[in-house]
Amino acid sequence: MGKILIKNIKGLVQHGENLPKIRRGAEMKTLPILENAFLALEDGTIVAYGSMDDWGGITDWRDLEVIDAEGKYVLPAFCDSHTHTVFAKSREEEFVDRINGLSYEEIALKGGGILNSARKLAEMSEDELFEQAMERINRLKSYGTGALEIKSGYGLSVDAELKMLRVVKRLKQESGIAIKATFLGAHAFPVEYKENHRGYIDLIINEMIPKIGEEGLADYIDAFCERNYFSVDEMAEILEAGAKIGLRPKVHVNQFSALGGIKKAIELNALSVDHLEELADEDIEALKDSTCMPTILPSCSHFLSIPFGDARRLMDNNLPVALASDFNPGSTPSGNLQFVWSLACVKMKMTPEEALNALTINAAYAMDLSETHGTISVGKQTPILITKEIPSLAYIPYAFGDQHIERFIS
Ligand code: NIG
Ligand code: FE
Repeated sequence: MGKILIKNIKGLVQHGENLPKIRRGAEMKTLPILENAFLALEDGTIVAYGSMDDWGGITDWRDLEVIDAEGKYVLPAFCDSHTHTVFAKSREEEFVDRINGLSYEEIALKGGGILNSARKLAEMSEDELFEQAMERINRLKSYGTGALEIKSGYGLSVDAELKMLRVVKRLKQESGIAIKATFLGAHAFPVEYKENHRGYIDLIINEMIPKIGEEGLADYIDAFCERNYFSVDEMAEILEAGAKIGLRPKVHVNQFSALGGIKKAIELNALSVDHLEELADEDIEALKDSTCMPTILPSCSHFLSIPFGDARRLMDNNLPVALASDFNPGSTPSGNLQFVWSLACVKMKMTPEEALNALTINAAYAMDLSETHGTISVGKQTPILITKEIPSLAYIPYAFGDQHIERFIS
């Protein structure tokens, strides 16, 4: 902490005052970069920035750390608005099953997938879950993630869902980055409710949600709206119950099929609709004029070999796009947003500038952090990234698989 001055910055990225909270359509190509710049921070708050040519000099050198960023870029940390960072065990055996020909959906129908993670999580203590998640978060920070949404959904019982959300609450206090908690009890139907959907939905609505409300354990509510998971009507009932305790929806929709969940979620005031590997014309229409952020998860498409979300189509319709990792043990075992940036460029034909807007301004919006995160503006407390020496900003998504972040400052 204390005072930090970063000088000789090759490019100060995404800086400015009164920047928009959302960049949409063609505006997503806009990315302010100030060359040969300085940035001053005090106890993590941005207090000044500008061109080295306008440098006024330092009047008080006490407790000042000076960092020379010659050849390096400085940018606001990425915001990851969709993750499942709290989980018990990795699932590489399912990865091998998929290599051998089974699909993600087939594995789930055999009792693998989310139910596999739920069995493992039931056996793990809150402390162990916390320690593991903390380790993951430290790794994510080193890759440049400065704000994180984390979902429950590997509990699927009252006790285990609350256990997950209590872990997230502790992470909020101890991780050193902004964290938002999302209740995802409606992630899958547990085995004992396979033929009794009504029973599980009642459990969510009558037992889980009230307890979550009492303990203040969640900011948002989610449901996996998909064939073999939750129908549009089932999702709607659950989101409505969440709204009663003030939880705004951020939902899993259109991963494998377009069932009309986007329209319904928007009617129920969703802050974001996430996945969107499948998109129907009516989904696009529903998104227009809404305040909902379409969020695409390209690492999931990569790992499951399913279609990539059509970001260009959304932007061509003057819509915004956010990108997130979906970090989880089943469909996305990497939370590295530098890789997401690269996939968005290579596979979704987003320009490096569009993709960075999707990972900063628009992603901050998708987790209600526009006031503090996503841009370099005076008064903001957003964490800052300093890159290694790189030839250009586009080099980050271009040279995929490398670590380009040298320092994370919060
Ligand atoms: O966002 N699709 C639903 N949920 C997660 C995957 C969960 C899992 O396989 O463990 C996702 O991809
Ligand atoms: Fe997810």
